Amino acid sequence: MTCIASVFKALCLSLLFIAAVASRPTNRPKVFNVQRYGAKANGKTDNTKAFTNIWKSACTRKGGNSKIYVPKGTFYLGGIEFVGPCTNQIEFVIDGTLLAPSNPRDIKNDTWIQFRYINNLIISGAGTLDGQGKESWPLNDCHKNPNCPKLAMTMGFAFVNNSRINGITSLNSKMGHFNFFSVHHFNITDVTITAPGDSPNTDGLKFGFCSNINISKTHIGTGDDCIAILSGTTNMDISNVNCGPGHGISVGSLGKNKEEKDVNGLTVRDIVFNGTSDGIRIKTWESSASKILVSNFVYENIQMINVGNPINIDQKYCPHPPCEKKSK
Ligand SMILES: *[C@@H]1O[C@H](CO)[C@@H](O)[C@H](O)[C@H]1NC(C)=O
Ligand SMILES: *[C@@H]1O[C@H](CO)[C@@H](O)[C@H](O)[C@H]1NC(C)=O
Ligand SMILES: *[C@@H]1O[C@H](CO)[C@@H](O)[C@H](O)[C@H]1NC(C)=O
Ligand SMILES: *[C@@H]1O[C@H](CO)[C@@H](O)[C@H](O)[C@H]1NC(C)=O
Ligand SMILES: *[C@@H]1O[C@H](CO)[C@@H](O)[C@H](O)[C@H]1NC(C)=O
Repeated sequence: MTCIASVFKALCLSLLFIAAVASRPTNRPKVFNVQRYGAKANGKTDNTKAFTNIWKSACTRKGGNSKIYVPKGTFYLGGIEFVGPCTNQIEFVIDGTLLAPSNPRDIKNDTWIQFRYINNLIISGAGTLDGQGKESWPLNDCHKNPNCPKLAMTMGFAFVNNSRINGITSLNSKMGHFNFFSVHHFNITDVTITAPGDSPNTDGLKFGFCSNINISKTHIGTGDDCIAILSGTTNMDISNVNCGPGHGISVGSLGKNKEEKDVNGLTVRDIVFNGTSDGIRIKTWESSASKILVSNFVYENIQMINVGNPINIDQKYCPHPPCEKKSK
């Protein structure tokens, strides 16, 4: 369209405007209902291949945002990795149950469901990640058995930015429930985490080298730390979290390895610890392999009900004695 005479300018501009509005891509995401793309909700068929293919289509789609929808029903899923970068925002809505293999040897990697190199990922829904950990817990003896089987964490995020999880439940993980590594600007709200108080190493939310993390309105009852904050994590805001059973909200352990980084800017407020071994906890190894600083922590309005060690700052952390004592 060319505009020559100035008298037509106004009309011409408005036509251009209408054309622009009409050709703008729709904001509604394209929905990939997993059941329509070959996944089976019978709790038996391995859906790994179907989910991998759906992810590829959703992630590389050019026309706009994508939504992967897992409807009600039980979808058996083996170890899987969802890798970006994706073209646009991608939403994973889980209303059904994702069921892990019960035999730990059937998951080869250290995480059952892994997300990597993604921006603008949203995980939501009323569904459940069922880690089927019961068969694995008795096999968790790696501190004394070098041939112990590797147990997978339920869901992992690595190199994921500007993303969030809202509303899902993680049940009976084999190891940790959610693991975050090098994740920046991430919100966690209305998440429920459940495993028995005596299930080993089932940390709720675990962070390393992360920044700008906001956790709120979350219920965690598990066998290890409700939240574990490890090396290199900064600017973390935790509020309205219920923890119990579990080992509390822990910083560390720190100082065991070289190349660890500072932990700073932690706010923990409006928390209820109920029936936990510990509440607020900071654990550092006596003989630190790295020289790091832990600073700028605020703890506010913390309720302790039936808590073993409400405040536990342990600078001689040694879970399996004896530990090396000489300092470097
Ligand atoms: C397992 O990890 C490797 C290396 O990180 C990765 O390439 C592979 O896709 C992963 N497989 C699954 C099933 O997650
Ligand atoms: C994620 O954020 C970090 C820190 O802001 C940045 O270094 C990294 O490049 C970002 N990654 C992506 C994939 O955008
Ligand atoms: C996280 O929540 C804050 C408000 O609490 C909001 O400003 C921010 O955009 C959210 N970030 C993401 C990635 O959802
Ligand atoms: C974290 O989220 C809560 C609830 O949405 C909000 O009140 C708080 O301001 C947020 N904190 C940051 C640092 O975004
Ligand atoms: C603490 O936990 C006990 C046992 O599960 C429960 O009966 C009680 O209501 C809880 N108290 C609060 C204040 O949540």
